[in-house]
Amino acid sequence: MSNMISRVSNGVMDWVNARAPGMMPAYRKHMTEYYAPKNFNLWYYFGSLALLVLVNQILTGIWLTMNYTPTAEGAFASVEYIMRDVEWGWLIRYMHSTGASAFFIVVYLHMFRGVIYGSYQKPRELVWVIGMVIYLALMAEAFMGYILPWGNMSYHGAAVIINLFGTIPWIGDDLTQWIRGDFVVGEATLNRFFALHVIAMPIVLLLLVVLHLGALHEVGSNNPDGVDIKKGPKGNRWSDKAPADGIPFHPYYTVKDLFGAGFFLMIMAFIIFFAPTLGGVFLEHDNFTPANPLATPEHIKPVWYFTPFYAMLRAIPSPIGGAIVMGAATMILFLFPWLDKSPVRSIRYRGLLSKVLIGLFVIAFVTLAWLGMQAGSTVQTWTARILTFYYFAFFITMPIWTRIDATKPVPERVTTHD
Ligand code: HEM
Repeated sequence: MSNMISRVSNGVMDWVNARAPGMMPAYRKHMTEYYAPKNFNLWYYFGSLALLVLVNQILTGIWLTMNYTPTAEGAFASVEYIMRDVEWGWLIRYMHSTGASAFFIVVYLHMFRGVIYGSYQKPRELVWVIGMVIYLALMAEAFMGYILPWGNMSYHGAAVIINLFGTIPWIGDDLTQWIRGDFVVGEATLNRFFALHVIAMPIVLLLLVVLHLGALHEVGSNNPDGVDIKKGPKGNRWSDKAPADGIPFHPYYTVKDLFGAGFFLMIMAFIIFFAPTLGGVFLEHDNFTPANPLATPEHIKPVWYFTPFYAMLRAIPSPIGGAIVMGAATMILFLFPWLDKSPVRSIRYRGLLSKVLIGLFVIAFVTLAWLGMQAGSTVQTWTARILTFYYFAFFITMPIWTRIDATKPVPERVTTHD
């Protein structure tokens, strides 16, 4: 039996290879002969998990679209219909809404890994920059998706964010009208955001992910030690030319990533089945009432993944100042590769100063996220101002503190604990 299966599969392979001779070399280049450092740790799960969530979003999104109505009249009711009447509709919807938050959790951890291991440093600047473009595209995708249920927070949240473009001198008013397709957020806005959310942005995201991985595979992966395995000794069990500290991505890391995926899916299932709204954090209470232009929610706020930037927007008294600060806070992340002047990549070999400042940066970012969800008392506003100041100071002074910080000697080869 197994003999027959292998004869048939070899036959199929030969048939394909004769007609598409480039396919096997591509498979080998990116899978079985892509030598990844042997010391990957937990932080290296999040890239493959981001891919998994992307696939989840696309598949559940396709099924949601089958029963969703993109009209101001029908949108809210169609989501209720999916939740109550469509078979397994509630599961598909919760997989998609939980998936959106999971996407940002995974991507934030993935970015943080890049920061602590200096993965954006030469020669991986392009991997980082493409990653940042993915992050922006993901934010646009999530923002437009949030409008589709046409709940009250969808409506007023969209109104506030689109109005930010109105602060741009000269063209502001025309620009906001052009984005909305109307004088207020309305059906035209819903229609175009639907089209962009289900067609345009997913294609853009997929394309960017291909470029991201293409760029990574040109230079090879970094690792927790930040040591370049390509520069180390050559020759391993599989090839004389491959880096001695590299192991084939397939099967070694496909198996490791499968384990990560299993663990991650268990957590996802737990949230989807037992706490799908996560107490109003993943799906906000105000979005369970239909959009009503005449009834503004008491506290308009975006979903948690935008709240660090939203807190900065609110901390600045002038609207245009707030919009600039918020935009600058996202765009400055692009500059990591050029602001970091440290001679070592990994945090393992950096000094106390870097560790403390990066630790404080995380605390500032998480606290800003929390502040962005609050009503905004005077104390909260001042805390947000101080943390916004720290956020920018962290980046602006980075060329200094990364230069003066003490470093530890970096080992010649990657370290493992076995
Ligand atoms: C849809 C979103 C994303 C997907 C599917 C994705 C996928 C991946 C995958 C599969 C890897 C290789 C495995 C790994 O190193 O974990 C990777 C590496 C990397 N990604 Fe992403 N990524 C995404 C977003 C981002 C973002 C937003 C950034 C940063 C702004 C980023 C920066 C990086 C860097 C620097 C590496 C190389 C890490 C290293 O070698 O140490 N990625 N990405």
